[in-house]
Amino acid sequence: MNTTEKTKSKAVANKSKSGNKISQAEKMKNNDESSDLLEFFVDELKDIYWAENHLLKALPEMKEAATTAELEKAIEQHIAETKNQVVRLDKIFKILDEKAEGKKCEAMAGLVKEAQEIVEDTEDDSIVRDVAIIFASQKVEHYEIATYGSLKALAQIMGKANIVSLLEETLVEEKNCDVNLSKLATGFINQRAMKE
Ligand SMILES: [Fe+2]
Ligand SMILES: [Fe+2]
Repeated sequence: MNTTEKTKSKAVANKSKSGNKISQAEKMKNNDESSDLLEFFVDELKDIYWAENHLLKALPEMKEAATTAELEKAIEQHIAETKNQVVRLDKIFKILDEKAEGKKCEAMAGLVKEAQEIVEDTEDDSIVRDVAIIFASQKVEHYEIATYGSLKALAQIMGKANIVSLLEETLVEEKNCDVNLSKLATGFINQRAMKE
């Protein structure tokens, strides 16, 4: 709701003499505000929908570029999870009776571009290559964790329990992926890169 509309609905509320009318106007105002919030929510869903689909194109490249079997396996697992995450977003669009469509996410476009450049800047079959892939991937995961966390909070406040649980499933996967990448880095990859 823009400022003029807000002032208008405030004026309606003030003009009304009976308590009932005031609460009706208040109700209208609240509905307008919640539909603005829903519109914002759908917009952010489109953003992450584009981001996940963009990742699905880029992740196989990262898997191919990885040096260690461990990192390759971790990326492979996350490709499968990401496919599922797109399916969950499809379900959410369906629940909201909205068309499932993406809207270019400049942040994810930039993060993926950075990942591709970082890979190009490192040697094939080197451990530093894996350090670089993990570095770039964790930035991606943190972006996703922030997005799904915020979407979940909005779905909660809007009372959409079925959407909350779908978002929560994805949020858990993104967090686990981040933890696994940290374990790989601190477990042996960073140390091996030191000796390379
Ligand atoms: Fe994801
Ligand atoms: Fe992810």
